[in-house]
Amino acid sequence: VHEGNGVKGLSETGIKVLPDQYIQPFEERLINFHVKEDSDESIPVIDISNLDEKSVSKAVCDAAEEWGFFQVINHGVSMEVLENMKTATHRFFGLPVEEKRKFSREKSLSTNVRFGTSFSPHAEKALEWKDYLSLFFVSEAEASQLWPDSCRSETLEYMNETKPLVKKLLRFLGENLNVKELDKTKESFFMGSTRINLNYYPICPNPELTVGVGRHSDVSSLTILLQDEIGGLHVRSLTTGRWVHVPPISGSLVINIGDAMQIMSNGRYKSVEHRVLANGSYNRISVPIFVSPKPESVIGPLLEVIENGEKPVYKDILYTDYVKHFFRKAHDGKKTIDFAN
Ligand code: SIN
Ligand code: FE2
Repeated sequence: VHEGNGVKGLSETGIKVLPDQYIQPFEERLINFHVKEDSDESIPVIDISNLDEKSVSKAVCDAAEEWGFFQVINHGVSMEVLENMKTATHRFFGLPVEEKRKFSREKSLSTNVRFGTSFSPHAEKALEWKDYLSLFFVSEAEASQLWPDSCRSETLEYMNETKPLVKKLLRFLGENLNVKELDKTKESFFMGSTRINLNYYPICPNPELTVGVGRHSDVSSLTILLQDEIGGLHVRSLTTGRWVHVPPISGSLVINIGDAMQIMSNGRYKSVEHRVLANGSYNRISVPIFVSPKPESVIGPLLEVIENGEKPVYKDILYTDYVKHFFRKAHDGKKTIDFAN
C-alpha cells in the first residue's frame, strides 16, 4: 500500500479492486445494518435563529438526550465562511503528496499538526478509507508557524466564526443541567481545547467492503461538523438501533454530543455511535471541530448534576488520559467510555 501517499494517492492510481488491508470484517460493513434511506426516523433540524430562546434551548437539550445528534440552520456562520473552508480543504488535499507529507507523523514539526490516513493504522485490523489533516489549536501565533498555508486562514476563520454558536449551545446544555453560568472553570471543562480535522474520503473501488470511518463516538464535549453535499454519515438511533443517514443540508452544521459531555452530564446527554460510508462515485470532505475539555482537567459528573442526590455513573478522569486511551485502539463503537466506569 502507498500509505505515504494516503488513500487519495491510492485511489488516483486507478485501482479497480480494494486492497486487502481495507476490507472490513463482515459485521462492520454498513450494508449489513439495514440502512433505510426511506426511514421515517431522522435527526432533528433546529433553527437556532428562532427568537423564542426557550423553545430553541429545549429543542437542543431534547435532541442531546434523545439523539446525541442534530443539525442547526441559521446559526450565524456565513455561507461564505463555510464555502471557503470547503475550498481550502480541497486545496490542501489537492497538493502534491510531497507537500502533504511535510505534515506526516514522521516529518511534522509538531504533534499538534498531523497529516495521516485511516484512524490508528498501527492498532487496526482493517484500515479506513480516509485521509485527514488534524490541527490541534494552541494559538494563532502557533498556527501561523505550523499550519499549512493552503488552508490556515480559512480554518482559523471557520473556527472563530463558530465560537458564538458553540457558546450558545453550551449555555443551553449547561442551564438544563443547573449550570448557572459558563465561568472560567466551566469553560475549561466544556471548551478548554479545540481540534479541527480536515477529512478527505476518496472515491473507493469497492465501497461495500470497507468504511470511510468505522463505528465510534467522539471523545469531545461537543463536535461541530461541516459536511459537503455527498452524504454518507450515519448515526445509530437510540430508539431503534437503526443506522440513520444525516442528509446534507446546504448551509447547515451537524452538532453532536461527545463522551466528555456524556460523562459531565452523568449520562443525560448521549454521545452516540456514528460512522461514514465509503463512496464509489464521489470524493467527500468533512470538517469537524472537536470542542473538548482542557487536556489537563479532571472531568466527571458535574456537581450541579449530582447535588440533587443523583448517583454518579462515571468516575473522575484526567481528560488527557481518556484521549490517549481512545487513540491507542482502533475504532470500536462506544467502548472508550468504559474507561470512565
Ligand atoms: C467522524 O465522525 O469521524 C467523521 C464524520 C464525517 O466525516 O461526517
Ligand atoms: Fe466522529
